[in-house]
Amino acid sequence: MNERYLRMMGKLAALGQERALRFWPELDENSRRRLLDQLDHLDEEFLAAQRQRKWPLVAAGAGNLDGFTPQPYIPLPASREEEERWDRARRDGEKLLAQGAVAVLVVAGGQGTRLGYPGAKGKYPVGPVTGRSLFQYHIEKMVALERKFGRPLPLYVMTSPANHQETIGFFKENNWFGKDPRTIICFPQRMLPVFDNCGQLLLETRASLSLSPDGHGGVLYALRKHQLLEDMRRRGIRHLFYFQVDNVLVRIADPAYLGFHDQMAAEMSARTVRKRDPWEKLGHIGRLDGACKVIEYTELPEEKKTARNEEGGLLFGQGSIAIHLFSLDFLERLARQKIELPYHIARKKVASVEDQRAAAADGGLNAVKFEQFIFDAFSFANRILVLETDRRFEFSPIKNREGEDSPATARRDLSEMFAGWLEACGISPRRHADGTLAVPIEISPLYAMSADELQAKLPPGLDTEREILLEEHAGA
Ligand code: UTP
Repeated sequence: MNERYLRMMGKLAALGQERALRFWPELDENSRRRLLDQLDHLDEEFLAAQRQRKWPLVAAGAGNLDGFTPQPYIPLPASREEEERWDRARRDGEKLLAQGAVAVLVVAGGQGTRLGYPGAKGKYPVGPVTGRSLFQYHIEKMVALERKFGRPLPLYVMTSPANHQETIGFFKENNWFGKDPRTIICFPQRMLPVFDNCGQLLLETRASLSLSPDGHGGVLYALRKHQLLEDMRRRGIRHLFYFQVDNVLVRIADPAYLGFHDQMAAEMSARTVRKRDPWEKLGHIGRLDGACKVIEYTELPEEKKTARNEEGGLLFGQGSIAIHLFSLDFLERLARQKIELPYHIARKKVASVEDQRAAAADGGLNAVKFEQFIFDAFSFANRILVLETDRRFEFSPIKNREGEDSPATARRDLSEMFAGWLEACGISPRRHADGTLAVPIEISPLYAMSADELQAKLPPGLDTEREILLEEHAGA
């Protein structure tokens, strides 16, 4: 143990981080071993770069945005001609699915602090009638696509060390929701050390470091580390569909989106919705200094948020909903060229053994966290597609415990979407006088994925006065 301690001390001293072992004399053998294990797992390159401030850092504020202009996008179809263009894209996307050239990536490693749910967020019971989990919805959509196109649709799930075993356990308990387990690949994201305000490793306890997941952008690092780009290549994948686990409405591997992305030979794509108002909390895709850049709502200056275009609409009227497509060629190029996403710095309040007095003067913000954001990959892409979508059918994230973007709004939006399908089939679920639904509705993706599919198998005599549940029955 002593030898291991001395080796680690030497390494930390070279990085200016030897204070991390200052409680060593007080620790018992087990605690010492655990602390050394944690230190062994740290990414040395990251620590060295942190010391020298070597990498591109994005501190609070995005710099001068005077020249930031919106990225052109393809709007939802508004004419016969545009409808036909979307239909052609849909058919092209369907061909890609039928070739087995598409895989899906969900990022599910976040801590879900705002929601405050004790388990992995993907386990959250959101189904309006049965309490189907987010994971079940997503995976059933994929199984439905696999049946339709007759090819496996591999799913890559990014977890974090904190919820990795829990996530795999949940899939096993539920028999992988009917999907072939060989097509579900779970991998944990990297944990990064948290620093104090002086750049020293922060200790959570005397015997443990404070660690934090490296952000959704960490998925690029994790895919490389776990050799999953090679895995995709072996499976014949050409395009990767990316989404966040908390968006219950996401249209996984939407053929029209895939088709446009492929037709344009885009390296990376984004789906956007028309913003509800200038201040909606979505990212803005635009161009700055010749490259594509996504600026978060917190960073876009007020005059840009409210600026109008020639038609009188908002200049930055589209918001990104974190549904992306990557071409595998692009991801491989980033890996080959050793391109790293920048790190965003967030100052936080976290539990630690440190004397809190110094931080108290600073509003209690005692810690500095580093995170990567997936949308920063846009600035490295040569060809980009931005495609508008209708939020009612594609975007309802669960972020907060209550209020907007909460379980209540997700259940409402799901029920409303299903009600729309039923209404298109001539069935009217009960509504209150103000037009809101009076009954919860849930349709399994294995039963129907659209109004058209529903029409074909609608049971006769559906009771529209009570909750409506349409599920595939065993053997159906
Ligand atoms: P959010 O930034 O909304 O974070 O993540 P969150 O963890 O869900 O919630 P808060 O901010 O702590 O309240 C958007 C998506 O990115 C994933 C999340 O799981 C979610 O699907 N994510 C986020 C990761 O996979 N890893 C991270 O380090 C951060």
